[in-house]
Amino acid sequence: MTLFERVFGGNDAVYGLTEAAVDAAIAANGEEKAVSFPDTAYALPCYYAVTGAKVTNLKEMKEALGVVKSLMTRENQLNDVFMSGVATALCAEFIEAIKYIDGAKPYDEPCYGHLSDAIIRELGVPLVTGDIPGVAVILGSAPTAQEGVDLVKSYQAQGILVTLVGGIIDQCQELGYKTGANVRVIPLGKDVTSVIHAVSVAIRAALIFGNVTAGDAGALMTYTKDRVPAFVNAFAPLDDVIVACGAGAIALGFPVITNDDKDVPAIPKSLIIQKDVSKFNATSLEARDIKIKITNIDIPVAFASAFEGEIIRRGDMQVEFDGSRVDCCELVQTKDASEVEDHKIELIGPDIDEFEVGSKHSIAYVVEVAGKSMQPDFEPVFERKFHSYLNCIEGVMHTGQRDMIRIRVSKEAFNAGFRAKHFGEVLYAQVKNEFEAVVDKCQVKIYTNPEDCTKIRHEIAIPVFDKRDERLSTMTDESVPVYYSCIMCQAFSPSHVCVVTPERLGLCGAVSWLDAKATNELDPNGPCQVITKEKVIDERIGEYEDVNEAVRKLSQGALDDVSLYSIMEKPMTSCGCFECICGIEPFSNGVCIANREYAGMTPLGMTFSELASMTGGGVQTPGFMGHGKHFIASKKFMKAEGGVARIVWMPKELKEQVAEKLNETAKELYGIDNFTDMIGDETIAEDPETLVAFLTEKGHPALGMDPMM
Ligand code: SF4
Ligand code: NI
Ligand code: NI
Repeated sequence: MTLFERVFGGNDAVYGLTEAAVDAAIAANGEEKAVSFPDTAYALPCYYAVTGAKVTNLKEMKEALGVVKSLMTRENQLNDVFMSGVATALCAEFIEAIKYIDGAKPYDEPCYGHLSDAIIRELGVPLVTGDIPGVAVILGSAPTAQEGVDLVKSYQAQGILVTLVGGIIDQCQELGYKTGANVRVIPLGKDVTSVIHAVSVAIRAALIFGNVTAGDAGALMTYTKDRVPAFVNAFAPLDDVIVACGAGAIALGFPVITNDDKDVPAIPKSLIIQKDVSKFNATSLEARDIKIKITNIDIPVAFASAFEGEIIRRGDMQVEFDGSRVDCCELVQTKDASEVEDHKIELIGPDIDEFEVGSKHSIAYVVEVAGKSMQPDFEPVFERKFHSYLNCIEGVMHTGQRDMIRIRVSKEAFNAGFRAKHFGEVLYAQVKNEFEAVVDKCQVKIYTNPEDCTKIRHEIAIPVFDKRDERLSTMTDESVPVYYSCIMCQAFSPSHVCVVTPERLGLCGAVSWLDAKATNELDPNGPCQVITKEKVIDERIGEYEDVNEAVRKLSQGALDDVSLYSIMEKPMTSCGCFECICGIEPFSNGVCIANREYAGMTPLGMTFSELASMTGGGVQTPGFMGHGKHFIASKKFMKAEGGVARIVWMPKELKEQVAEKLNETAKELYGIDNFTDMIGDETIAEDPETLVAFLTEKGHPALGMDPMM
């Protein structure tokens, strides 16, 4: 059989199954029955992106099948093959959507099925920084379970996000291999149609970050091809359905690598036959042109960003260092070059093997650096990275920062030979790696004697932290000479620019003014550029001629002017990876804020995902603004519209996180005590009427302010 015949045959088969499934669902539920995936604002995202139409019930799905059919042309051109591939993918999406009717939960552990918009937004920053250099979709069963697991592990060790479909999931389970979103190995489902949940991620990335207009299939395919570094590994034997799905993947620009050499002709760069499964990794990376940053660190366990979210349970831990019980801290100090011996790692105190299994201890590690261009302002920037560095060690979990840290070392890591000095190896290697432009020499001292830790924490670290906080709290937009741009997210949002100021951090929450400053000095031609702010246009909304010029240039002309402090007038754009989204609530003259973790409803009648879909892709959308959590307590938050007094609602958990700082700001700006008590949350109201009644009772200041529109 030819490739054409196989794709068309597979496509026809899936279409037949889909038609039957839709008819059966209509017979069982009636045409009006709603269909949707949970936690997405894009209905059936693939169908929506390709056609521009949102399928919301079975009747519309039945009609949509007609549209799908129109893609299934049979002219024996390559384009027919690709469009039949796309049609197959859309059919798979319908079949999967039907599984979710009536809020059903069709997937059980370890499978995930459909992935939420929030998960995709969370992937934004790691994808642009290259922390996640690619996305692998592994389909079918490897020749042996061990080969399957080895392949998964090889990607995981490179930080590549792995999704699994079909037999490979059983193979991972068989060998007890840990999977889950937190270790970036995501089993989607065992039916081949569940592959659509991976496709859906790539497609929603185009809608969320790329500002691709739904229905513009050409722009969609260009976006996924150019910007989503995904590829497929499909194990033999490939049946026609898988071949048809593969054609869909290729249409989106994702190469398919397979070890099946029967009946499938190779297509250069697109359909690649690699009979040796142990070479899938190398072949895939080459086909998708993915480059892996290699970090060689001398430790006995793996080191990869995929392990960052790994959880170590009490029963699995060898030892724990717990800053909430005993004195612990982590600190960076700038020293004179003569005081630092490069790569000296010193352990002062007992090592991990002298501790009882499961016991709690003190630890303090001080990273001393020297360099001609080193500035004390960079110390907190390095320090904040420690959390990620130590977490990337397989078998080590790190939470918190400064003197409130907790570190667990697993029994497995301990048995592999992991010891205290290895913390030093990791910190040394990563600091040198990432900050080599300013760090000439680096040494690490690790203390494990309780008396030493107490002394370092109280006598050295805390005074340093206090001094830094003091500097940060007095640092205002007015007190610094320049701002910085960040265009890291342009990899996915080609026209998006963040303007980062001391009082307004990047919307991802990961880039403060100090971070941007450090990034600029480390890499003067990199993503963060100096922006002067000498030519004021309008103080009230924070508009400057020089900021506008910079934004115009950095957005390649997509953006003309931008304000720093207004949500209504020329607001800053969003890429898509924002921590929070705020939108105006017309009945109270206020705004509601939802954070990415919040899955419930807001009084705007929209969930986080739905609100988030109102903005993004580097486009200005008055009335909606993506922002970082820390921006909520800023005196510059919506300053043009009256400031934080406009906040009328946010999820309870978020409110608790920001309460202390927000209350301080409100006290200072308006003389209000305990302002957060006046702000609604989901336990108080999820609709505008109840919210306004609550705000009225509390005398919330927004009610007396001018309407925003
Ligand atoms: Fe992306 Fe803005 Fe964060 Fe930079 S500061 S990484 S552009 S969201
Ligand atoms: Ni103490
Ligand atoms: Ni972003």
